[in-house]
Amino acid sequence: MIESVPALPQDFLAQVDETVSHYPVSKRSAALPLLHLWQERFGFISQEAIDWIAARLELQPIHILELVTFYPMFRQRPFGKFHIRVCRTLSCALGGSYQTFAHFKKLTGATGDEHGPIDSPDGRFTVEFVECLASCGTPPVVMINNDFYEKVDANKVEELVRRCGE
Ligand code: FES
Repeated sequence: MIESVPALPQDFLAQVDETVSHYPVSKRSAALPLLHLWQERFGFISQEAIDWIAARLELQPIHILELVTFYPMFRQRPFGKFHIRVCRTLSCALGGSYQTFAHFKKLTGATGDEHGPIDSPDGRFTVEFVECLASCGTPPVVMINNDFYEKVDANKVEELVRRCGE
């Protein structure tokens, strides 16, 4: 139920209304923009978020959940302040991305099941393998939050992790 979510900030609700107004023919088309808005504001897409967005767009929660589970950019749990994505697709794998990933793990202390995002013990870092980041000629390719890095060897990993601490 849309009423079950604790009061959302007025400016957020205004952003939601403004976004939905761009889709007068099909409110459903606002689903992805609203998911991005929610994640930018609250950090991840909770079950409450799914229910709230579905209700706001007069959809079933499954219509929102299927987007959240299909698109890898959506998070279903809180992540660290620094989200490190390491490409593991062929060009980057051949270019050393598994070593890059291992070095990020070592320097951040992140552990866990590498089939999904893994967290450092202090919660500051979330490290994750991802598929192609569209710069296959400059492997290994990494993103930290919205910043993009190419040719990330061990030295560059050390520099990047150090910069996160500054
Ligand atoms: S294979 Fe890594 S960016 Fe394409």
